[in-house]
Formats: sequence, structure tokens, C-alpha cells
Amino acid sequence: MTRRYIVRTYGCQMNEHDSERIAGLLEADGLVRAESEDDADVMVLNTCCIRENADNKLYGNLGHLKPWKDEREGRQIVVSGCLAQKDRDLVARKARHVDVVLGTHNVHRTADLLTASIEASAPVVEILDEAVVDDHVLFPSALPVRRETSYRGWVTIQIGCDNTCAYCIVPAVRGPEISRPYASIVDEVRDLAAQGVTEVTLLGQNVNSYGRDLQLAARRAGDTTARLRPLFGDLLRDVGAVEGIRRVRFTSPHPKDMGPETFSAMAETPSVCEHLHYPLQSGSDRVLALMHRGYTADRYLTRLAQARDAVPGLAVSTDIIVGFPGETDDDFERTLEVAAAAEFDDAFTFIFSPRPGTEAAELTDSFVDPEVSRERFARLRVIIERSSLAKNQAHEGATEEVLVEGPSKKNPSVITGRTRHNKLVHFTPPRSIRTGSYVAVEITRGAPHYLEGRFVDMIAESTHRLRIPVAVA
Ligand code: SAH
Ligand code: SF4
Ligand code: F3S
Repeated sequence: MTRRYIVRTYGCQMNEHDSERIAGLLEADGLVRAESEDDADVMVLNTCCIRENADNKLYGNLGHLKPWKDEREGRQIVVSGCLAQKDRDLVARKARHVDVVLGTHNVHRTADLLTASIEASAPVVEILDEAVVDDHVLFPSALPVRRETSYRGWVTIQIGCDNTCAYCIVPAVRGPEISRPYASIVDEVRDLAAQGVTEVTLLGQNVNSYGRDLQLAARRAGDTTARLRPLFGDLLRDVGAVEGIRRVRFTSPHPKDMGPETFSAMAETPSVCEHLHYPLQSGSDRVLALMHRGYTADRYLTRLAQARDAVPGLAVSTDIIVGFPGETDDDFERTLEVAAAAEFDDAFTFIFSPRPGTEAAELTDSFVDPEVSRERFARLRVIIERSSLAKNQAHEGATEEVLVEGPSKKNPSVITGRTRHNKLVHFTPPRSIRTGSYVAVEITRGAPHYLEGRFVDMIAESTHRLRIPVAVA
């Protein structure tokens, strides 16, 4: 009988893309996707450990999965991803009913390890310390992929991170930065376009440093023509020029490495969307230095102004941490000021969470009282919501291009899509519209977290191969 799998994903887009690859590998091995957990024989938990609550959540979830596993003969549980990489044997020790534990560097082994575990009497644990340097297994996109959506695709341009942000666990669980060869990225985007994908998102922890390692390696190998200049702008232009690609997005750039070549590539490549995710983290220079972010608030704001000058109407989102060890009231006031001055369209805001093994986790003497962090968090949210609302209201009356994502979760007669500025739009379609189509929508109302609109016209009917009709009321 055909075995069925289900993948639950936690964390960021890297993990979501890894999950697509895990699904692709399992399907290449003969499994099919399950409709629900009841229906599944294999459950994969692809984990994240960026903040502390992720840890507790995983062990809680694993506890609940014991009865699921016992309910049917032959069921298997796989734990993969960043938390597995960090906790290694601990997952297997805490949850003996897990079948396979694998880390971030050996996703390509998922199906093999699953097979090996059938004969094994204890969990099969395989965590590698570093990435296997082979183009085909290193980059999630280079393996069989079962993409979640057929009109949109993530494309990995780099894995790992060479930065040393004091709070961050990512370099420890994802390893050093390795760039994917330029031509292989552009080729993948061409392949995706040929399959009807029209929007791509380039993924990396620090996309602006893309290619630095490749250039240094070429120089070391004696290639004197290898240029030591940022390559990301070139990549945006080349990916953006691929026929059939209407939208290019990327995440995340790092303020310390972002420069004019990225802004001009954005401005001069029509398919690159007018949206920038630009992580601030803190508005205090003292805290930014403690975090080792490599920029000051002034430099952040100056670059932001340059980006907005280059790309009119640019929407900007950010990440901010409150309660970093040693953050004083004054430091926090600076964050409020910079957040207000930056007028973000959106922000992911976090309370500092100590991650074992990171520099900031050692600063226990200067930890901020959790109550103080919660208050600061709430005050910051007020500033963010204010600018989000104002930014969204500024779109009222404009007619914008919307990529249709599907029926709204709350009300299936309403369709949800995204503008080039990465804003969610809800509107009622006059007729059935396929996901992946581009439509013109007049924005009628801006709320803090979404826009409402009125269907105006069809711009481009979806061409992707999988037909998923969207119901209308
Ligand atoms: N490479 C990306 C960030 C990836 S992690 C970048 O540099 O922009 C996503 C966000 O999680 C970070 O930007 C940061 O705001 C937040 N984060 C990371 N570690 C954290 C921690 N220990 N506590 C709270 N927030 C954290
Ligand atoms: Fe973490 Fe900093 Fe690297 Fe982003 S740039 S992944 S925050 S270490
Ligand atoms: Fe989480 Fe790993 Fe991403 S820790 S945020 S899934 S890189």
C-alpha cells in the first residue's frame, strides 16, 4: 500500500523551502502526500530554534505524537531542521518514539534514513557538523522539490551565515555562508519560469554578501579577472530579466552590506518588487554595537532614504528585538524614535530570547526584566501599527496589481492576494479566478495589516500547470 507523509514546518522561509525538498525526496521515494495527520504514515517535524518557545513546543508536540504513532502499525516520526541540529541526541533521548533525527546539512538523506530506521531498534540520528560541499545536495533548490505553490517559487542563493549577531543561533545551526553558483541560480529561475512560475523569492541570510566567497575562491585559484565587487545587484538584474518572471523578491538583506548597487538594480529591473525587508534590530547605537550589527542608526536611516529615493513608493518591513541584555530605557527610546522616523509598512517584533551557545545568552547579569520587555514591546507595537495603518491608507484609491493567492481563510467568497508592495489584499471577485493570476484591484480601505479592494480587471490569467480553481460565492 502507498505510504503517505505529512510535513509540519516551523521557522523561516529557509525551513519552508527545506520542507518542500523533504517532500520532494519522499515523493521521489514513492510516498504520497497525506490529506491529514490521521491519514499519514510518516510525520516530519521540520523545526526552528530561533527563540526559546520553539524548544518547549517541539517536546510538547512530540509527546502528543506518541499516541498518534501507536495508533497504527508502521507509522514513523522524523524530526529535522535547526532544533534537531542544535539538540542532536537530546531529541532521541527525550522522545524514544522518534524514528529519525536529521539536521540542516543532510536534508538530502531524509528518505535513506527513513528506510534505515525501519530495521533499527532505536532512533536513527544523523547530524553533520558541516555542509556537504556538493552542488546537488547543498542547495535546497537543487534536489527534487515538491513546491507548495506552482506559481511562486523560493530559490536558495546562499546557505548559512558568516555574521556574528550576538543573539542569533542561525550561524551555529546553519553553518558558514556558502553561495550557490551564479549560473545555477539563473538556470533554476529559467526552469521555474518554463513551468509557469511568475514570482520568485531569492533566499539567503545575508543576500547582499552573495558571491563574496565565490569571488575569493576564484581569486585564490588564480583567476585574476574575478571581480571583488558585490554580485547581488547583478543577480537581481539577471533573474529579473528571465522571460516569464513578473515578480522578484528577496530576503534578507543586511543593512551593513546593503549598498547603492542593490538600490539601482531594484530601480532598474521592472520585475523586482517595490518592497524591502530591512532588519533594524535596535535603534540604539550602543545596543547595535553590543549586537555586533556593524551599522549605526544614522547609517541605517541614511541607506533607507537612499533606497526610497531610488525606488519610489518602496514599502519597507523590518525585524526589531526589544529587551536585548543591557538595553536601558534610553536605548529603547532610541528604538522608538528610529522606528517612528523609518515609518515602516510592517515589522516583526520580538522579545529577546537567550539562545544557549550565543554570546548574548551569557550576559545574564544584564538581562532585562521580562515585565519591562513586555511593556517596551507593547509600546513599540503602537508605533509600528500607527505607521502600518498610515502606509496602508496611503494606498486607498490606487489601482494595484495583485497576485491571486486563493480564497480568504475566514470567508471563502473573498479572494486574497498580494500587491507588489507585499501587502495582503482582500476583494470579492466577479467570477472564478485561478490562483496565480494577476488582477488589477482598486484599493478601497487600508487597515493596519491588510488592504481591502474592488476587482477592476484581469491582467494575466495564470499559466502554471496545476489548475486550482478558486471558488466564488
Ligand atoms: N538573517 C536574517 C535574520 C534571521 S532570524 C537577518 O539578519 O535579517 C529572523 C529574526 O529573528 C531576526 O532578524 C531577529 O530580529 C529575530 N531573532 C533572532 N534571534 C533572536 C533572539 N535570540 N531573540 C529574539 N529575536 C531573535
Ligand atoms: Fe542571525 Fe545576524 Fe546571520 Fe541574520 S545576519 S542570520 S541575525 S547572525
Ligand atoms: Fe529558525 Fe533555522 Fe530559520 S532557527 S528562523 S528555521 S534558519
